[in-house]
Amino acid sequence: MSEQVLKVTDLTTCYGSISAIKSISFYALDREIVGIVGPNGAGKTTLLESIAGSVQPLEGIIEFLGHRIEHWSVLKRRQLGLMLIPQEANIFPMMSVKKNLEVSVILSDRDKREELISYAYELFPILYERRKQIASTLSGGQQRMLAVGIGIASNARVMLIDEPSIGLAPKLVTKFFETLKKIRDDTKKTIVLSEQNIKVLNIADRLFGLEAGEIRFDERKENLSRDAVKDLYLGSIS
Ligand SMILES: Nc1ncnc2c1ncn2[C@@H]1O[C@H](COP(=O)(O)OP(=O)(O)O)[C@@H](O)[C@H]1O
Ligand SMILES: [Mg+2]
Repeated sequence: MSEQVLKVTDLTTCYGSISAIKSISFYALDREIVGIVGPNGAGKTTLLESIAGSVQPLEGIIEFLGHRIEHWSVLKRRQLGLMLIPQEANIFPMMSVKKNLEVSVILSDRDKREELISYAYELFPILYERRKQIASTLSGGQQRMLAVGIGIASNARVMLIDEPSIGLAPKLVTKFFETLKKIRDDTKKTIVLSEQNIKVLNIADRLFGLEAGEIRFDERKENLSRDAVKDLYLGSIS
């Protein structure tokens, strides 16, 4: 069996008196693509942000590559290879595309840096075309691609991607998802993405259903019917 690179046990995160996620246990295997699905307000973003460290859980254990990380800073988690790509893509807005990648690649081994940047450009040729453009002037979809390119450049081991399909044209969603699958196939990365778009079924190995902060299912994709997922947990079908 594959190694669990990420393991969350009994995680509870509150905003004031609201429990956004309630005693959630979750894991991701080496080279797995896990889709976290659920309606608006289910707690998807809160779960990803709690894992990445941008919000602090009230209770629970988070293990990453064998380390207990729940009290680590975002930066320390990032340095070990855990990267969140939020809905508002995490880029350096005032730098060029090229500079964004060059700054990020510093987290990677020196002898791999050039290759990683070339790979990011190969995955997203538009980033190469726009390499001199200031990142904040890219479209939303291009910024999302750059954020994934930054994950590639910094050699992230696990990429947590929050609803990547939002704001992307349907054709672009399919392409973007295919690229994520290629990244998983080409590299040792694990990808955890939250989604409300049914197309997540095309790439996920396993789906984790959340509703009102609680787990509704955790199943390998082949054990779930498309209709069941669509009816219960997925709002947009574009
Ligand atoms: N900063 C916040 N302050 C207060 N409540 C929040 C905050 N962020 C999220 N929530 C609440 O937590 C719950 C889960 O939200 P969220 O994690 O954003 O869900 P999802 O990403 O699945 O839409 C919702 O009830 C939401 O209103
Ligand atoms: Mg969300």
